[in-house]
Amino acid sequence: MEALPEAKAADNLYVGGRVVLPGFVDSHTHLVHAASRAEEYELKIAGASYEEIARNGGGILNSVKKLRAATSEALKKRALAALREFAANGTTTLEAKSGYGLDVTSELKILNLHQELLREQPLEIVSTFLGAHVVPTEYRGTPRGPQHYVSMLIHRLIPEVAERKLAEFCDVFCDRGAFSRAQSEQVLEAGERHGLAPRIHAEQLTRTGAAQLGMQLGAASCDHLEQVNHADIRALGKSRTVATLMPGCDFHLGLKQYAPARSLIDGGAIVSLATDYNPGTSPTLNMPMILSLACTQLRMTPAEAIAAATINGAYALRRDKDIGSLEVGKRGDVAIFDVEDYREIPYYFGVNKCWMTIKDGEIVHGGSPYRM
Ligand code: NIG
Ligand code: FE
Repeated sequence: MEALPEAKAADNLYVGGRVVLPGFVDSHTHLVHAASRAEEYELKIAGASYEEIARNGGGILNSVKKLRAATSEALKKRALAALREFAANGTTTLEAKSGYGLDVTSELKILNLHQELLREQPLEIVSTFLGAHVVPTEYRGTPRGPQHYVSMLIHRLIPEVAERKLAEFCDVFCDRGAFSRAQSEQVLEAGERHGLAPRIHAEQLTRTGAAQLGMQLGAASCDHLEQVNHADIRALGKSRTVATLMPGCDFHLGLKQYAPARSLIDGGAIVSLATDYNPGTSPTLNMPMILSLACTQLRMTPAEAIAAATINGAYALRRDKDIGSLEVGKRGDVAIFDVEDYREIPYYFGVNKCWMTIKDGEIVHGGSPYRM
């Protein structure tokens, strides 16, 4: 680095022997939402399952109701506060999904916000269209309703989102209570025809064959994967589709079955880790906490977990040439931790050891360093 001509103009920061990592790349978040669902938290603790709560009008539809009623300004204020917290925990790039709007106006409201937020604050935001999150209430009255919603996504929203360049990826929640494998295929293929690369919520609550569908379509990533079987694990081991694991969901929902990270890694899969920041299953944006869960619950080593949350997350967002590692030619995206050994980053949990975050060479979080 020092030998490069550009280095002459650079500042030297003295970081006092702390641990320096590439900034985290959080490849799965539902950044824009209107409010928490703390009211459902108590129901969950009392024993209600995520699906039961959803069947009784809670769950994603609860967040849809709140988002539709919220102004763009209020949503923006909440997202900006979250983005500052992402930066404070060492994240420099995050993916953000729509999916709490589920009608033309509200989905466009979220996707437009992604673009505004990208322009107005330092972190990099990668936008994903998730119109196929669940079937909205107004399409639930008749047996043909869900298919009409899928048609609306394919013929109306996806073309408009692509035309206005509001998203880079198209995602589907393929699960019981959401979209079938056949519907997911239709939506993701329509996305592809319009230049939106596929990714998929797969095998979270039940096994639907979503992971196999994702790989068949060349998806950038299959996310969740708690319910995969041996054939899925073998296929992911041979595939370039990333296996994105989000242990924050299982932790928050109190589920015992975490994704089989060890078999996936040992079988050759590209495993990444993400927070899945969202109000229903994973209300956290703290990547170091996800690393702690990955080590203790998924049996990943600290080194595997850090690679999963940096370079493999970048690969899942098709930005591995640009971010995710500290190399000449890549962006200056850096997270510095106040620990003596990188293993202490997951080892300490529930405390923030991130001392400074740098995005594109600019300090976006942290104290005033000693400049040499
Ligand atoms: O990734 N599974 C679907 N989507 C989210 C949950 C969204 C919600 O409950 O609000 C997830 O877990
Ligand atoms: Fe999600």
